[in-house]
Amino acid sequence: MTASPTTAAQPIEAIPGPPFLQVIKQAWQDPLDFLLNTALTYGDPARLRIRDENILVISHPDHLKHVLQDNYKNYVKGYEVTKPLLGEGLLTIEGHAWRKRRRLMQPMFHRRRIAAMADTMVAEIEKMLARWEPYAASGQPLDVAAEMMHMTRDVILATMFSSSISPEEAEAAGQAFQVALAHFDRYMFMPVQLPDFVPLPGSRRFRRAIETLDRIVYGLIRRRRQMPDPPDDLLTMLIQARDEETGQGLSDAQIRDEVMTIFLAGHETTANALAWTWYLLSLHPVQARRMWAELDQLLEGRTPTFQDVAELRYTTQIFQEAMRLYPPAWIFARTAVAQDEIGGYTVPAGTPILISPYVTHRRPDLWPNPLGLDPERFSPEQVKERPRFAYLPFSRGPRVCIGEGFAMAEGILALAAVGQRYRLDLLPTFPVKPQSAGTLRPKYGIKMTLHPRKERG
Ligand code: HEM
Repeated sequence: MTASPTTAAQPIEAIPGPPFLQVIKQAWQDPLDFLLNTALTYGDPARLRIRDENILVISHPDHLKHVLQDNYKNYVKGYEVTKPLLGEGLLTIEGHAWRKRRRLMQPMFHRRRIAAMADTMVAEIEKMLARWEPYAASGQPLDVAAEMMHMTRDVILATMFSSSISPEEAEAAGQAFQVALAHFDRYMFMPVQLPDFVPLPGSRRFRRAIETLDRIVYGLIRRRRQMPDPPDDLLTMLIQARDEETGQGLSDAQIRDEVMTIFLAGHETTANALAWTWYLLSLHPVQARRMWAELDQLLEGRTPTFQDVAELRYTTQIFQEAMRLYPPAWIFARTAVAQDEIGGYTVPAGTPILISPYVTHRRPDLWPNPLGLDPERFSPEQVKERPRFAYLPFSRGPRVCIGEGFAMAEGILALAAVGQRYRLDLLPTFPVKPQSAGTLRPKYGIKMTLHPRKERG
C-alpha cells in the first residue's frame, strides 16, 4: 500500500517544530502567519504538538503528491467538526461511499454542463452590475467582498437548484452560513478541546443557523419531489439517482447534506477568490491595464460567453495568481490510516496532517519573490517548469475539487463582465486584512469605489 517504513526512517519525534507555548499563543492569534513561519523555519515536514498530539505540517510538493495522490487511500479527511453543517456530503465522506457519490455527481460538472450554465452565470453577474449602477453614479463605495458573496450565492442557486428558493430564503441561508462558518473558525485552532457541554460563545447561534438552513433545504427538497416536470439540475439529479447495486434512491437527509455541501463549497470560495482579485488589481494598475486591454480587444463591449473563457488567457492568469496569494481554501487536513513514511520520517497511524495551499504558495524556493503579483507565473512555459503540486488552490489528486471548472468559468466571466465596465478602486483608508475563517476572506470586507472605464478616455 505504501512506501513501507525503512530502517533509515527517523521517528516522528525527531521532526523539528516550534515550542508548545508558541504554538498555543500564535496559532490561535494568527494561524496564517504562524503556519507559514513554522514551515519556513522548521522545514519539511514540520511538527506541531497540540493536545498531546503530533501534527505534521507538510508543504513540499513531493510530500503533497504523496499524501494527496500516490498514497491517498492511506489518508482520510476526518472532518468531524463540519458534520453538523455538511453531514455526509461529497466533501466529507470516504472510501466506497465517496467513490459512488463522486461518480453520481460528476456529470453535473462536465465541461458541456458548465458551458450550458455559463449564460445563467452571466445573467446573475449582470444583475449585480444593475445593482451597482447607483453606486457608480454617486461615487459611494460598496463592499466588493459582500457583493461577490451575493452574486456567487445567486449563481449556485440558479445553476444547481434552478433558483427554487425565494430571495428572502436565499438571504437567510447566506446569513446562516456565515454564522456557521464563524463558529468553525473558533474551533479550528483551539489549543484545548473543551467538552461539548461547555457552552461556547456562539454555539446557540450556530444551532439556530443550522435549524434555519435545514428548514430551507428540506422545504426545497419537498417542493421538488412534488414537481411533475422538474428542471434538469443537480437537485433533480440527486432526487432521481438510484444505486447501481441496490436500486435505492437517496434519502432526504442524504440529499440535504449534498445540497448543503454544494451550496457552501460552491459559493463562499469563489466569492473570496474574486474579492481578493479585485483587491490585487486595484493595487497593481499595470497588470489591471493589461487585463482591460485583453477584455477590450476580445469582447469589444459585448457580453462574455463560455467560448471567451478559454481565450481570456491573461485574465485567467490574474485569477490564478490571486488564488496563489490568497487561496480561499487556505488549509485542509488528512489523517494517516496506517503507518507511513514522509520525508524520511515515520508517520504513525492516526497522525493528523495539515496541508496549506497558503503556505506552499508562498514558499520562496517554489515562487521567487513570493509576495509579488506576477501573473506571468502562469504562462504555459513557467507552469511547465514547476512541480504540479506547487500550486493547489483546488487541491489535487482523486479528491480534487469537483467544482474547479465551474469556479474558473464563473470567476473569469465575472472578471470579464465587471472588468470591461468598471475600474474598482480600493478606498485609501480601508483596512484590508486576511482572516482565516474556514475560508480565507477579507476580515472587514473590501470597500471600493466604481469608475466607469469608458470615461477614462
Ligand atoms: C475558487 C473556488 C473554489 C476553491 C478554491 C475550492 C477549493 C477546494 C478544495 C481545496 C477542495 C479539497 C478539500 C479537501 O480535500 O479537504 C475542494 C473540494 C470540493 N469542492 Fe471546491 N473549491 C472551489 C469551488 C467549488 C465549487 C464552485 C463547487 C461546487 C459547485 C465546489 C465543490 C467542492 C466539493 C463537492 C468538494 C469535495 C470533492 C470530493 O471530495 O470529491 N468547489 N474544493
